[in-house]
Amino acid sequence: MFCHVKTSAAQLEYQAFVTLATNDSYARGAMVLGKSLRNHNTSRKLVALIGPQVSEPCQSVLKRIYDEVRMVDVLDSGDTAHLAMMKRPDLGVTFTKLHCWTLTHYSKCVFMDADTLVLSNIDELFDREELSAAPDPGWPDCFNSGVFVFCPSMETYGKLLQYCTEHGSFDGGDQGVLNGFFSNWATADISKHLPFIYNLSSIAIYTYLPAFKYGGNAKVVHFLGKTKPWSYTFDPKAKRITGSTHEATAHPTFLLDWWSLFSSAVVPMLQEQYGDQPFHSGCVEVMETHSQSNNSLQPQLSSEERKEKWEQGQADYMGMDSFDNIKRKLDTFLK
Ligand code: UDP
Ligand code: GLC
Ligand code: MN
Repeated sequence: MFCHVKTSAAQLEYQAFVTLATNDSYARGAMVLGKSLRNHNTSRKLVALIGPQVSEPCQSVLKRIYDEVRMVDVLDSGDTAHLAMMKRPDLGVTFTKLHCWTLTHYSKCVFMDADTLVLSNIDELFDREELSAAPDPGWPDCFNSGVFVFCPSMETYGKLLQYCTEHGSFDGGDQGVLNGFFSNWATADISKHLPFIYNLSSIAIYTYLPAFKYGGNAKVVHFLGKTKPWSYTFDPKAKRITGSTHEATAHPTFLLDWWSLFSSAVVPMLQEQYGDQPFHSGCVEVMETHSQSNNSLQPQLSSEERKEKWEQGQADYMGMDSFDNIKRKLDTFLK
């Protein structure tokens, strides 16, 4: 599991950021992620692993952003019991992530979920060793497998598949397998603990806002959870997130960053590829109604009901419980 490589200019060729998209929705995420890495001038290669379900137009756009777009077999854990426990029946396919170890024409890589967004250059991650990752916000003795440093190796790939057949995954997805396999991550070597700013879950901001202010400067935001940036719609003119059928779970500012990049840099490329075929960009201009501007679409809740919703993880992040409102409240305590 060692891959000590000193980085000379030639060796940069052999290092890559890798992501995965098995369908067109996650492909949109991969497009934004790739663009964000390019915008922050990464010197490393970009690789997207895709499944056969990704449509031709999306494949073409990915090929314009990524150095390599590689079709892989979709692996599925089929572990409905554990996936149901996480309320994410869709995550069995994340086993496909394990294919990243087969990219042996690279010596070291950084895997990033398609629902991550890079906010500044993170090439320094290549100074780290396998397996480096940030703690999971839900269970910090586990690492979150949305961002990790690894060294491609067919031997490791084989051992991982063997691990899957013998032990399965405690969460039904790749994170369970990887934490089982790299089981000494929590205790063996602190240099393999990436700072949280490399995998900042937008949900964590709300559970520990003062730490967010203290830790500052997130470098990678991870839109972890069921609702993804592409689950919303966006009004590019008003620069406003408009999809309201989903509970907003992400920090509005980061969501806006995602949508600004998607609408300005990705949508034009998709438009070019789709040509006359209809496609839904998610960008919609919304006429502001009186009730919207007053934020009174939601029924008024008592403070007891709001507390209950908050404790169930259903805060009204875009409205009453918005980042700005929480900050204002905290500031009054801190004064
Ligand atoms: N993924 C995919 N297709 C799917 C589900 C997941 O390609 O149907 C990939 C994608 O790269 C995604 C990662 O697996 O970012 C992990 O899934 P997700 O981000 O939804 O999990 P979460 O971070 O919300 O737990
Ligand atoms: C997690 C990770 C994600 C992983 C999933 C399934 O919550 O964020 O990257 O694919 O669990 O194990
Ligand atoms: Mn994710």
